[in-house]
Amino acid sequence: MRPFFPQGEPTMQSKRLLALVLATGLLAFGAAHAADFGSDRHVARGVQCQTCHGPDLKNPVWPEEKVCLGCHNRDDIAAKTASKLNPNPHKAPHNGDCTLCHMQHEPEVDYCAQCHQFNFQMPNGKKQ
Ligand code: HEC
Ligand code: HEC
Ligand code: HEC
Ligand code: HEC
Repeated sequence: MRPFFPQGEPTMQSKRLLALVLATGLLAFGAAHAADFGSDRHVARGVQCQTCHGPDLKNPVWPEEKVCLGCHNRDDIAAKTASKLNPNPHKAPHNGDCTLCHMQHEPEVDYCAQCHQFNFQMPNGKKQ
């Protein structure tokens, strides 16, 4: 039911799935999974589906980075993680889009690992 997007790129199929799930009001989507994904943690803090997917559930928005940046400040995160991450993906010269790594309905991934060996340990990634 839920395709995995290693590139973080929405496909037509997944956009349709998103529209379907949201339009049919299957709002327990997040709760249906035992695993603690980003969306679960956000919902637990009172963030609604609509906050990330837009108010029109019949025409849902695929969350882009600016949705995340509405609440998170890139410079603050870079400062906070400066001692741990070098180079810092929160200051990446490319591919720094939040949702490439911090997936919200899947385990998080180190997107940079396709090409680099920085070995970032994603806080909520797959258990090794
Ligand atoms: C490499 C992929 C990657 C990308 C892209 C990325 N992050 Fe991160 N992020 C990480 C890693 C790794 C950590 C864990 C740092 C640590 O060990 O504490 C982290 C930590 C965080 C934290 C927790 C910081 C703290 O210690 O309190 C937040 C919040 C966060 N990222 C948000 C974002 C946002 C927002 C974006 C987009 C602007 C983003 N990240 C882009 C890899 C990434
Ligand atoms: C409505 C505000 C809001 C939006 C939108 C939002 N976040 Fe968050 N996020 C939070 C809050 C609040 C926390 C908890 C902060 C803390 O504990 O310091 C958090 C925590 C996080 C964390 C670290 C802790 C954890 O539990 O994973 C990451 C990573 C993160 N958000 C990434 C994202 C990404 C990626 C997006 C965009 C898809 C996003 N956030 C959108 C409010 C938001
Ligand atoms: C913090 C932001 C955030 C919240 C809250 C959130 N989502 Fe998402 N959602 C995303 C992102 C980012 C994607 C892109 C794929 C991914 O990261 O897993 C996505 C993708 C989806 C998809 C496409 C299928 C998939 O798994 O890729 C569906 C369906 C979906 N969300 C439903 C929901 C529902 C229902 C809720 C409320 C329970 C919700 N989302 C809450 C950010 C969020
Ligand atoms: C598709 C492959 C690919 C991905 C994915 C990728 N990179 Fe790169 N990166 C490169 C290549 C090729 C270079 C060397 C050429 C250049 O400098 O543009 C490079 C160079 C860099 C440099 C040195 C550039 C400079 O100007 O100092 C940094 C830092 C870097 N990448 C960080 C990252 C981070 C962080 C991520 C993940 C958020 C990432 N890259 C994802 C291919 C990639």
